[in-house]
Amino acid sequence: MEDLLHRRYQTLGPYSPLFYSQPLEFVRAERVWLTAADGQRYLDGYNNVPHVGHAHPRVVEAIARQAATLNIHTRYLNDRVVDYAENLLATLDEPLDRIIFTNSGSESNDLALRIANQHSGSRGLLISDFSYHGHTQALAAATTGLTAHEGLGAHVRPIRIPDLDGADAAREEGEVLAAGLAEVDRAIASLQDAGHGVAAVLFDSLFSTEGLNRVPDGYVSGLAERVRRAGGLVIADEVQSGFGRTGTAFWGHQNHGIVPDLVTMGKPMGNGHPIGGVALPSALLDEFGPRNMYFNTFGGNPVSAAAGQAVLDVLAEEGLIDRARSMAGTIRSALTELRRSHPWIGPAKGKGLFFGFEVMDRPADEADAQPDPGRTREIVESVRARNVLISRIGRNDNVLKMRPPMAIEPGEAALLLETLSDALAADESLATSRRG
Ligand SMILES: Cc1ncc(COP(=O)(O)O)c(C=O)c1O
Repeated sequence: MEDLLHRRYQTLGPYSPLFYSQPLEFVRAERVWLTAADGQRYLDGYNNVPHVGHAHPRVVEAIARQAATLNIHTRYLNDRVVDYAENLLATLDEPLDRIIFTNSGSESNDLALRIANQHSGSRGLLISDFSYHGHTQALAAATTGLTAHEGLGAHVRPIRIPDLDGADAAREEGEVLAAGLAEVDRAIASLQDAGHGVAAVLFDSLFSTEGLNRVPDGYVSGLAERVRRAGGLVIADEVQSGFGRTGTAFWGHQNHGIVPDLVTMGKPMGNGHPIGGVALPSALLDEFGPRNMYFNTFGGNPVSAAAGQAVLDVLAEEGLIDRARSMAGTIRSALTELRRSHPWIGPAKGKGLFFGFEVMDRPADEADAQPDPGRTREIVESVRARNVLISRIGRNDNVLKMRPPMAIEPGEAALLLETLSDALAADESLATSRRG
C-alpha cells in the first residue's frame, strides 16, 4: 500500500485527491460491495457512477460484446447509437428532442455554455455561490465550491441558494422565496449594468455540492423565468441528480416542475464507462449546428452507446427508480429517528438515494450551534473503519453525504444506517469524554 501510494505520487503527483486518512485500494467490486487489496469487503454508500451496481453483468456484457464487434469514431452511421439516442430522449420532456454526446460532465457543461453564449450573444452567467460543474477553463472561471486559481470571471455572478433545512430553517418559506428571487434580480441587473448581459443560469437541481439545500417551492421556476426574461438559457446540470437518483423523477429538474433549455449529463450515464451528453431542443441545435463544425471523436461511439443503453435497460427492468422512491421514505424516517438520540445532527436532507444531514458542534436547535467539519470528518472515518463508505459535502464541509449505487437493497440500506448509528454513538461518547 505505502509503495503504491509513493509510486502514485511519483507519477500522478500528490494533488489528485484521495479519500480517507488511510487511502483504500480496491481490487474488485460487485453490485454495492467493494473488495480491498487486503480482502476486506466494504458496503458502498457513496458511489453514484456505478449507478446500476458495480460490474453489473448486463453493462459489462454490452460493453464487451460491442467492443468485440465494432468500435469506431462517430463519423459513420451506427444503429446502436441512434437507438440509444431515441431511448434517452424519450425520458426527457418536450421540446428536448436532440442530444449531443460527449465524454464527461465537464465537457457537457462547457458545450452547454458555448451554446448559450452563442444563442444569447452574451456571456453573463448565474451560478450558485457554492457549486462545481467541471474543470474546463470556462467552468474554472465559474467554480465557487472548490479551489480554482483562475478566480471568478468578471461575467459570473454567484447567488446564494436558500436552504429550508439549513441556514434558512428559522424563516418563513414565503419570505425565503422572496429574498432568494430578489437576489436573482440583483445579480441579473448587475450583469446587465456591467454590459455582460445574461447568457445562462447553470445549476444542479439537487444542489448537492452546496449541501443538499431544500429550496422553497417556486424558487427554481422563478429563477428560470427571470433568466429567460433577461434573454438567457436555463442549463440543468443532471450529472448528480439524473437517471432516477431522486426516486421521484427520471431527471432532477422535473421535481421542480421546469423544462430547461439544456440538460447536461455524465457520471452515472454509462455506469463508469465515460459518456456524457447535452440534450436540447432542435431549434437550439439548428442555430448552433450550421455555425460550428462540432465533432467529437469518442463522444457517443458504439461502445459508449451500448453501455448507456444497458443502464437504461437495467433501470427499467429492475425497477430501480421505483425502489429508490420507496426506500427513500424508510431512510428519511431512520435519519429522523437518529436525531432523537443525537440532537447535534440536523434534519434529514436530500432526496431519493442522495441523502445526509448536517453535523453541528452542539444540539442543532440551540441558537449558537455551529457546523462542525472536524466532527463530520471523524464520523466519515469511523464509518469507514466499520467497512462502509460515505463522505461529506457542503460549504462548511459538515453535511454527511450518502449516495449509494441505485442497486442497493433495503437490507443493505438498513446496514448503512445501523453502521452510521454506531459511528454516531461512538463519536458522542468520545465527545463526552473529551469534554469531561
Ligand atoms: C454537478 C456536477 N457537474 C459536473 C461535474 C463534472 O463532471 P466530470 O468529472 O465528469 O467532468 C461534476 C463532477 O463532480 C458534478 O458533480
